[in-house]
Amino acid sequence: MATIPQWIMIGGDGPESYNQHSSYQRALLEAAKEKMNDAISAKLSLELISGRFIVADFGCASGPNTFVAVQNIIDAVEYKYRKATGQNPAENIEFQVLFNDSTTNDFNTLFQALPAGRRYYGAGVPGSFFGRVLPKHSFHIGVISHAFHFTSEIPKGITDRDSPLWNRDMHCTGFNEAVKKAYLDQYSTDTKNLLDARAEELVPGGLMLLFGSGLRDGVKMSETAKGMVLDFIGASLNDLSQQGVIDQDKVDSFSTPLYIAEEGELRQIIKENGKFTIEAFEDIIHPNGEFPLDPKILAVSCKAAFGAFISAHFGADAMRKAFELVEVKAREEFSRIQNAKPGMQYLIVLRKN
Ligand SMILES: C[S@@+](CC[C@H](N)C(=O)[O-])C[C@H]1O[C@@H](n2cnc3c(N)ncnc32)[C@H](O)[C@@H]1O
Repeated sequence: MATIPQWIMIGGDGPESYNQHSSYQRALLEAAKEKMNDAISAKLSLELISGRFIVADFGCASGPNTFVAVQNIIDAVEYKYRKATGQNPAENIEFQVLFNDSTTNDFNTLFQALPAGRRYYGAGVPGSFFGRVLPKHSFHIGVISHAFHFTSEIPKGITDRDSPLWNRDMHCTGFNEAVKKAYLDQYSTDTKNLLDARAEELVPGGLMLLFGSGLRDGVKMSETAKGMVLDFIGASLNDLSQQGVIDQDKVDSFSTPLYIAEEGELRQIIKENGKFTIEAFEDIIHPNGEFPLDPKILAVSCKAAFGAFISAHFGADAMRKAFELVEVKAREEFSRIQNAKPGMQYLIVLRKN
């Protein structure tokens, strides 16, 4: 398998940071809040809400979305407890939140931004969520928000110009059936490992809440707005190589450890893994629609999510130039983007078997 740098967000809270440019991801948490509350009310056993209640966020980044995700969960658990028992949760339940991300994540920014007045004790858990990062039975509800689309590595052949699996132009346009199968196989293996690890770490009857972007069955990534934007990144890198700014070999050997799965694929992977029951699979209407942003904001938010990974391959200067070109391309093709096929924003609720 090709070695790849770890996927991280741009840390800190500066003008390029994920911290400042993750409102699109946050909007899904808010839009799905009611459905999440319903799921916690209906599916979380009341017996689990006593004494110490532990929430874990996997792929938490440096904030601030993780604080919204975990607070929404705590609110829902407290609501259920109050309604069912008539008692004040503040007097009887202590919450702890475990914040997990890769070791290279900017945990300092995260810890400095912990909300004042929070009603939980925080702790960092460094390490890859594809494997175990916690002891058995460590938490009651886990959340993964916008981090359920990663692979642990890029499948063999994808970055090799001589292979039939070579994925030219980074991701979407060159995403033929063979490339798709290689990514799907890798994604299935990794996601099953992730689910195995969480199943061990969760208490019996615990829940996993997955928020993220997927595809409706039969829709290709390249037909969606997000896929088009990914293609702009690939095209911009190609432009930079034409201008002699970066090496074409580097562009040709660049690919991302991401796979945006279709609903049916997600269902099948979870079913084959067998450790969880799907209690809800909600197609959430995002308040900003599929493509809300103006080209400038789009380029900056995309840079916050992809920039650190691209910098690791091409250097920070080339990365900044690439995103200037992404903005130009997004401006030129804005109407195509607006007419793209819809993607899908999901909330998936899993209950440990
Ligand atoms: C797009 S951010 C999402 C952040 C946050 N959950 C949100 O909703 O805004 C994806 C996060 O997943 C983390 N991540 C990617 N691969 C990971 C892995 N193997 N183990 C732990 N975290 C990982 C990245 O470092 C990044 O912080």
